[in-house]
Amino acid sequence: MIVAIDGPSGAGKSTVAKAVAKKLGFSCLDTGAMYRSIAWLACERGIDLHDDETLGQIARQADIVFGHVDGDPIPKQVFIDGHDVTDAIRTKEIDKAVSPTSASPSVRAAMLDQQRRIALSGDYVIEGRDIGTVVFPDADVKVFLTASDEERAHRRLRQNVDRGVGSIDYEEILADLKRRDEYDSSREVAPLVAADDAVVMDSTDLYIEDVIEKICNLAKDAQ
Ligand code: DC
Repeated sequence: MIVAIDGPSGAGKSTVAKAVAKKLGFSCLDTGAMYRSIAWLACERGIDLHDDETLGQIARQADIVFGHVDGDPIPKQVFIDGHDVTDAIRTKEIDKAVSPTSASPSVRAAMLDQQRRIALSGDYVIEGRDIGTVVFPDADVKVFLTASDEERAHRRLRQNVDRGVGSIDYEEILADLKRRDEYDSSREVAPLVAADDAVVMDSTDLYIEDVIEKICNLAKDAQ
């Protein structure tokens, strides 16, 4: 079974996806981390972030692996070509570099292949921007998770403080979220948009536990 959770930055997708996966006993895939890893590799190699062909080459060859800590089924680490980039992909630089990287059609094609291959191995909760529209249009459950800009910025701020990485300036975070939403929504390939058959959930005034329970119930109903 595939549970697709799409939505803009900071809507709570990661927290919700991990909790839903844990409750259902599913694996969990953070596709944003995959795009961030490619952006990191491109920056490391000094590649022009608008050079679709070269970006596509590195994306097709890149070996992205999610690492588990202490037997936890939810991955906590990300490696690309053997480099542990768990923290390095959450910096302000990568927040900026990931927009042009993820707008590259060749990068998207490479990631789509990898994501479909990974999900062959079992039941998955997959979070991203285009999971219900492009990667798994036949997903059993599709959720589009949103929240107000301000609430999303507050959540991202708390997440950055907890992780000890990324900006801790509210105004800077809010501006970056808006910039990335605009970029993600207006790109030509796989823009951020709710699938016609997605359940849209605005989590601004909902407890995260209620969102998690609702999605688990949708998954149980679909089984
Ligand atoms: O979920 P996130 O903020 O970590 O994602 C980082 C970037 O990757 C985001 O700005 C848009 C892009 N992305 C995408 O284009 N498609 C996905 N399925 C997931 C993320």
